[in-house]
Amino acid sequence: MAPTRCLARTVRGLTTRSMCAQAARSLSTTSSNAASSTETTTGFNGQKTRKPLTKEQREFLASAVSTIQLRVNQAGELAATLIYTAQTPPLVRQHPHLRPLLKHMYDQEAAHLSIFNTLLHRHRVRPTALYPLWSVLATGLGWSTAVMGREAAMACTEAVETEIGGHYNGQIRTLLEMIAEWEAQGFEVGGEIRDLVSTLRRIRDEELEHLDHAVEHDAKKAEPHWLLTGVIRAGCRGAIWVSERV
Ligand SMILES: [Fe+2]
Ligand SMILES: [Fe+2]
Repeated sequence: MAPTRCLARTVRGLTTRSMCAQAARSLSTTSSNAASSTETTTGFNGQKTRKPLTKEQREFLASAVSTIQLRVNQAGELAATLIYTAQTPPLVRQHPHLRPLLKHMYDQEAAHLSIFNTLLHRHRVRPTALYPLWSVLATGLGWSTAVMGREAAMACTEAVETEIGGHYNGQIRTLLEMIAEWEAQGFEVGGEIRDLVSTLRRIRDEELEHLDHAVEHDAKKAEPHWLLTGVIRAGCRGAIWVSERV
């Protein structure tokens, strides 16, 4: 199972990264040409000042990075809020002590969703066309795992947060590589992209915190853990793949 998951993660990583790398490569060519004709300038105080991004670089950020990643992230955060919303009533009925934990995780997911709603609006990115389908599936997943019991509900959180955490890690890595490459060529990437990276890092850390909570609350004791988490993780990867395209 592990090699299969590793392969799937690698393939998913390569899909996103190759797309970005491809665009980055073509931009590198543009950037190199631009760099050779427009060297980094030197300011009055002797410090080097960076060049603004080219039109192609800005367009790349707007399309490949903003559009695809923001759309997927927003869909994922919507699903997360719906999973916790559906899990809470059945779980809290059986285990009232879990109410604060579920509320804490829901509140963080709602804040993540709000951030991506704002970013989608700002960058004029349309949500995924399958928004209604993801809503139904996420609610069904949350409710059914909660009805199966505390361990199954926590295994669901473990599986979802593992995939989401890895997804955010891939985005952060791609953006950092791009920033490093463009800065090495003398371009100033600007505060907005840096803010996006720090926002993604904070959200990634909170997703991994949810993963820790799930494991601490016996996610691994779900029966059968391997099947439950395997199916949910495959579903998450499928949803990410589709949301990147539709
Ligand atoms: Fe989240
Ligand atoms: Fe989360």
